This record gives sequence, structure tokens and C-alpha cells, in this order.
Amino acid sequence: MHNHLQPINLFEYEQLAKEHLSQMALDYYSSGAWDEITLRENRAAFERLKLRPRMLVDVSDRNLTTSILGQPLDLPLLIAPMAFQCLAHPDGEVATATAAASAGVGMILSTLSNKTIEEVAAVQQNFPNTLQWFQLYIHKDRGLTRALVERADNAGYKALCLTVDAPFLGQRERDKRNEFSLPPGLHAANLATISGLDISHAQGESGLFTYFAQQLNPALTWKDLAWLQSICPLPLVIKGILRGDDAVRAVECGVQAIVVSNHGGRQLDGAIASLEALTEIVAAVDGKAEVLLDGGIRRGTDILKALALGAKAVLIGRPILWGLAVAGKAGVSHILSLLQTELSLAMALSGCAQLQDIDPSLVKY
Ligand code: FNR
Ligand code: LAC
Repeated sequence: MHNHLQPINLFEYEQLAKEHLSQMALDYYSSGAWDEITLRENRAAFERLKLRPRMLVDVSDRNLTTSILGQPLDLPLLIAPMAFQCLAHPDGEVATATAAASAGVGMILSTLSNKTIEEVAAVQQNFPNTLQWFQLYIHKDRGLTRALVERADNAGYKALCLTVDAPFLGQRERDKRNEFSLPPGLHAANLATISGLDISHAQGESGLFTYFAQQLNPALTWKDLAWLQSICPLPLVIKGILRGDDAVRAVECGVQAIVVSNHGGRQLDGAIASLEALTEIVAAVDGKAEVLLDGGIRRGTDILKALALGAKAVLIGRPILWGLAVAGKAGVSHILSLLQTELSLAMALSGCAQLQDIDPSLVKY
């Protein structure tokens, strides 16, 4: 990898990003839980799944556009919610949101962002049709949670994405060793006005791990979805489902989209690859909700494979942080354009002119 050359794929961005991040930030961004088995499995599952391309199809024009919860996207891609993006670049989530909007992809803002709900929503003024969702962590403090939800609704986010795979934070051992904390000047911006919610001091543990243990509600169950729906009119998306029966339950609760995810291997180590959970969940949902997937998407062919197994779109996580670290908004834009170019070529080479042509017969284990 020569530093004076622009990276030509997402893996090269990952290598280059290491030179732009503190060790603590790099470890926080890249880590999986415990032995990182699931982190590796997410990639391995994509590598195992093979394509069965169709020949002699007119692929001179490819159409990558789709819609999610009725909102148009230029390609079947959303940026996954990821905490603390100012560790990568001072513009943080605002840069990410701007790059997403200009590329016509969606963006999900984390509860634990360094830029506020309102600062990120301001990007909508220049891109009125952009898809922005707010990712929610339900805190023990219901008033605090309600305030977050109301702010997201007022600011114009189009859905609430409730993350359900983190009643506690997974144990990422490098973060524990580093006693992960936010450097001076950075805050969980949406929570900064509330005292005691400080992730800038840590002892013997990741400050974020401690924050979750103290502040998040580990008693959350399916019954609480009704409460959330009663305080917020936005469509509800659930992120972190890995079983068909849970997906059915979500649909019964009126959830409109499900993100099949193991949190990028950061929660329960040993959990199955998200790609391997997809077929069961798509079958269980039976068209009653939209199914999205994240975990290990690094190539256009990965998007093709996920769509072949029934995902309507995918979320991409860490590579966005690598782009942000290397070149801010321009880096994120480049990551998105690399994925667009790769997906378009992968579709052409497999005989798919449009996303509707991507069907289960295209893949085989
Ligand atoms: C995350 N993820 C995450 N998910 C979530 O619901 N809320 C959050 O605040 C965060 N924060 C977060 C921070 C960092 C640094 C990472 C890497 C991930 C999980 C994220 O949304 C997504 O599920 C995975 O990152 C997808 O896997 P890949 O694409 O990173 O392999
Ligand atoms: C993480 C949390 C914030 O994965 O979701 O670090």
C-alpha cells in the first residue's frame, strides 16, 4: 500500500485509516467482542457463499435505485448507526450525513453521536429527500429516552431504529485494556446536558461498557415496543435480530423493517454470521416487513449476495469510519462510490440489469 496513491477498495481504506487514528479510537472502531469469532464469521460467510451468474442478458443499463419504507434511494445502501464519529474526523456525523445524502444513500444516526440530532438533521435542508433515521438506545431513564425520541421526530428523522442486541455492551477486550474514554472536548452530544452521563473517565473498564451497565435498560422486552409506539408516530425499525421467531414477533408488534445484525461482531461472540441468519428471517417475515442486513459488507458482490438471499438493502459500518478518518466527507463519498461502482459491475457480470433481477438462484453455498 503506497500512501501517495488513493485507495482503490475498502480494505485499502482500512489499512490507511490506521495512520489517521489514535490507538484507542482504532481499537474501539475495529474491535469485536471476546475472541472476535463472529467478527471473522461475518466476512467468512460472504466468502463462502458463491455466485451463479446468468449469461447473455442485456446489461447495458443498470438500475440500482430502490426504496426503503417508501423513501427512494439511489442504491440499496444505508450507513449503519455508529457512535462517536468525531474520533475519526472533527466533522464527524455531519460529514457522514452529507456524504450519504449526496450519494443518495441512507444514514442512521446513533444515539451516541458526537454531533447532535439537530446538527445532523440540518443536512436535510440541502437534501430534502435524504433518508435519515435515528437509532435509539432505551435508557433506564424513560424521560431521557422520551426526550431523545421527541427530538428525533421534531428534527425530521423518518424512522426510529431501535437496537435490541445490547442490553449490556459486549466485552471488547482491547477497549477494556485501554480504559476506553472520549478525549477532552468530545461528548455524547445528545446526552451532554444531562449530568453523570460522561464517557470521558474510565477505570479498569471501557468507559462505554460502564455507561451501558449504568444507564441502559437491560429489562427491556417486547412489551416495551408498545410504549415506544405510543410516544412516537415514526415507523419503527428493529436492529439486531438473528432468529426467525424473533422476526415474527417483531412483525406482530408492528415493526416495519428488521435489520438482521450481530452488531458487527461486537456483542455476543459466537453468534452466527448475519448473512447465515438471513434466509430464515426472510422466510419468517414473509413480506410483512422490509428486511435489511449488516455485518461484513466490504464489496459490491457482498451487497449482491445479501440481496440474492432476500435483503431489500444493506447497512455498511466500519468502512465509513475508515473513509472518514482518511479524508472526512470526501473519504466517505469515495467509499460510497466504490461500492456503487462495484455493485453495478457485479450486477452486469451476473446478468442483472436491475435489483429485481437479483434472486435466490444467483447464490449457492
Ligand atoms: C457500531 N454499531 C452500532 N450499532 C448501533 O445500533 N448503535 C451504535 O451506536 C453503534 N455503534 C457502533 C460503533 C462502532 C465503532 C461500530 C464499528 C459499530 C454497530 C453497527 O451499526 C453495525 O451493526 C455494524 O458495524 C455492521 O458491521 P460492519 O459493516 O462494521 O462489519
Ligand atoms: C458499540 C455501541 C455503541 O457497538 O453500539 O460500540
